[in-house]
Amino acid sequence: MVNKSVKLYRGLQGVYFDRTRTTFIDGSNGILEYRGYNIHDLAEKSTFEEVSYLLLHGDLPNRQQLDTFNDSLKEARNLPAQIFSIIDEIKNSHPMDVLRTAVSALASFDEDRENDTVEGAIKKGIRLTSQVPTIVMAHHNIRNGNPPIEPNQNLNHAGNFLYMLNGKIPSQQTINLMDKDFILHADHGSNASAFTARVVASTNADLHGAITAGIAALSGPSHGGAAENVMQMAKEIESPEKAEGYVKTLLANRERVMGFGHRVYRSEDPRARHLKEGVKRLSAEVGQPHWYQILEAVQKAMSPYSRRGIHVNVDFFAGVIYYLSGIPQDLFVPIFAVGRIPGWVIQVIEQYEHNILIRPLLHYTGERERTYIPLKDRV
Ligand code: CMC
Repeated sequence: MVNKSVKLYRGLQGVYFDRTRTTFIDGSNGILEYRGYNIHDLAEKSTFEEVSYLLLHGDLPNRQQLDTFNDSLKEARNLPAQIFSIIDEIKNSHPMDVLRTAVSALASFDEDRENDTVEGAIKKGIRLTSQVPTIVMAHHNIRNGNPPIEPNQNLNHAGNFLYMLNGKIPSQQTINLMDKDFILHADHGSNASAFTARVVASTNADLHGAITAGIAALSGPSHGGAAENVMQMAKEIESPEKAEGYVKTLLANRERVMGFGHRVYRSEDPRARHLKEGVKRLSAEVGQPHWYQILEAVQKAMSPYSRRGIHVNVDFFAGVIYYLSGIPQDLFVPIFAVGRIPGWVIQVIEQYEHNILIRPLLHYTGERERTYIPLKDRV
């Protein structure tokens, strides 16, 4: 029974459900701005800490504001002892499952647990921005039978994240690249995870609950998992000459080429080019230029699809950067989460500030008015 008068927007494609003052996206022209600042300026000139401040407070910080903000971030880098124990209990799970559980548990230990003001949400959000990298790397060390590595307060957010992997101070170039990656992932409008976080916030549930749900939504391959799959694809391709045949086979089987396509961008994802440069430089630097060449060959093989609006997206280049930075493949999605925390936090705050319960409709197409048959009479 299909009611033809009902207009369905499956996947809510093209539907505006609220207003935002945080992130502007023009998918046709490939434009992305955070709080009115073009992503290219932010990626080239800013730092993740400045961008986080910008997203949370609406303006770029001056020196003093940035110093204070940095201090709050650094202060929050450690975790309550109970969180390490929880991580240890579930250490054999996928890092995204561990992250989701640990963030959910953090709610119980946050000093602003009962504070449901916007200021409270910002304080919790700043803490989560710092705690999430520590959770990801602590889990990585614990699952390998090693103690978690203490945060290094001499390093910035990106540098400390990389440091907590193995206790080695990364090169400045590697830190800068990770910093850029975090900036590029910091927010992205009504993507699946931010929307999920908003749905939870719209019931007036707490920030940790909303972010926990956002992490769950991010974990799937259509959203956060693409970078991991791109790296897998690059490994399977093995050499640039094999890229075209590999891509053709995928497409002939009606499979998706990971790192391509986007619900919003019908032109190139503006975030992608910043990481492309990074892959080129890093793969040459470590003497493995074939990774860049493989990705270039895949991009070339996919070029006929640009006519259909299928272009390279941010995650196409991210995976190889993580791989060349020595990060295990199953930590690629958690890295996306590390960068995305400020975006989720501010979107949850926007939702609280002008709240309305998000409760759309489903058009029922099943059977109706059936006669109830008692259990004893059912065949
Ligand atoms: N490879 C091959 N064909 C594709 C791809 C792709 N990566 N993406 C879309 N298409 C085709 C799709 O098969 C469909 O063709 P047809 O109309 O003949 O059935 C058409 O394009 C439209 O696809 P869609 O699924 O309706 O588009 P969507 O807006 O729902 O999908 C997407 C968006 C990101 C889920 C999809 O492009 C995809 O699965 N890409 C690969 C995964 C990926 O790279 N995800 C990371 C996105 S960027 C990070 C983020 O912001 O989350």
